[in-house]
Amino acid sequence: MTKKEKYLDLAKKSLARMDNSYKYFPEEDTPVFVKGKGVRLYDPDGKEYLDMVSGYSALNQGHTHPKIISSLLKQANRLTHTSATLSDAKVLLAEKLANMSPIPNTVVHFDIGGSRAVEGAKILTTAYTGKSKMISFNNSYHGRTAGSLSLYNADDFKDLLNVPKDYYKTHYPYCYRCPVGKKIESCNYQCLDKIQHILDNNNDIGGIIVEPALGSRGYIFPPQKFYKKIRRICDEHELLFISDEIQMGLGRLGAMFACDKFETIPDLILLSKSLAGGMWPLSAILGKKAIMERIGPGTLGSTFAGAPLACGVALTSIEVLENENLCEKSEIVGEYFLERLRDEFADHPLFGNIDGMGLAIGLELILEDGSPAGDLCEKIQHLSFKEGVLLQRGGPGKNIINMIPALIITKEEVEEFIGRFKKIIEQIH
Ligand SMILES: Cc1ncc(COP(=O)(O)O)c(C=O)c1O
Repeated sequence: MTKKEKYLDLAKKSLARMDNSYKYFPEEDTPVFVKGKGVRLYDPDGKEYLDMVSGYSALNQGHTHPKIISSLLKQANRLTHTSATLSDAKVLLAEKLANMSPIPNTVVHFDIGGSRAVEGAKILTTAYTGKSKMISFNNSYHGRTAGSLSLYNADDFKDLLNVPKDYYKTHYPYCYRCPVGKKIESCNYQCLDKIQHILDNNNDIGGIIVEPALGSRGYIFPPQKFYKKIRRICDEHELLFISDEIQMGLGRLGAMFACDKFETIPDLILLSKSLAGGMWPLSAILGKKAIMERIGPGTLGSTFAGAPLACGVALTSIEVLENENLCEKSEIVGEYFLERLRDEFADHPLFGNIDGMGLAIGLELILEDGSPAGDLCEKIQHLSFKEGVLLQRGGPGKNIINMIPALIITKEEVEEFIGRFKKIIEQIH
């Protein structure tokens, strides 16, 4: 029995007593990891994997970055947690984020994760506008707590959790499979007309919550003017524009803030995941002062929100993004990666759309008639474990392979991935 088999055996026994939240993979192929370094993961028998998921973009700085570990240990030795009082680390981090933020006079609120930031945005929007509902997009993902689920069309969970439906759903510009059947050259963003229709028929809407690219449900990238169009609609109707950058922020799209890529300033920006280098859960809402100060002390928050340990690590995690030019690298290496994938696979009959922005890339698998090849995508994901690659998949048809490597990935490592990926595709008949 290999060490991995021993762990799997143990996992099987414990999974029998646990819920099935972790049963994503076929049992014998489930990867078990004991070590991570840079863009690589290792199993108990020393087998190495290229990690193309990077903790769902929580590890933009890579696994076990020495500076982030050292910061974690330093902060742990000094101060880990207080009550709702201030700490030096929290003050410095708020100052740093406010200075970085594209929103003038940014005020920062900290919490412990993405879903909590989304719930906070909902509360702030209601307090500021007096209106409790939002417009959100098909195939978006904003979290799995009741408050975050209430803001988007999460069919998988809605009936089970009986959460309120505080949203109106509209089309995301998914140009490869246009939701309103148009061609990008001449569409004039007709997919967004539905927003006007919703606004004409309802007066309880306080904001629009949007992902800069569809993350957990896709790796689908909108055209360049999308954010500007949303900004204009929000301005015309006095709605708040909430940019959920929990997955696509902090360098992922090739800029510190995803909204920078679209040259647009939202009213609230939501961050989490790589904010504390994947070492400690932390989220932040960055917003206009007038909005952030509309609610009283204690309305938002939780025991560990903005803990000194998280904030100390976050200061270093941001420093690493800045000092190692990871936003720029994301843009340059991402472009190279996308081009190489197109070179290799654009003419292959199994591949449809190959698209990306920075180091977020989606590879769409299709059947002969062009429809989504979800089963094939699952097969490729599982075969990839054998070839030493960790991949994620998503999309409305569950047929999009997502690439979200750490932003430290080099062109050589991209080539290594492509070599392994070609071997995987050769095994498909
Ligand atoms: C865009 C987006 N919003 C919100 C969330 C929820 O974050 P968390 O899982 O930290 O609650 C996620 C998580 O994947 C996300 O990608």
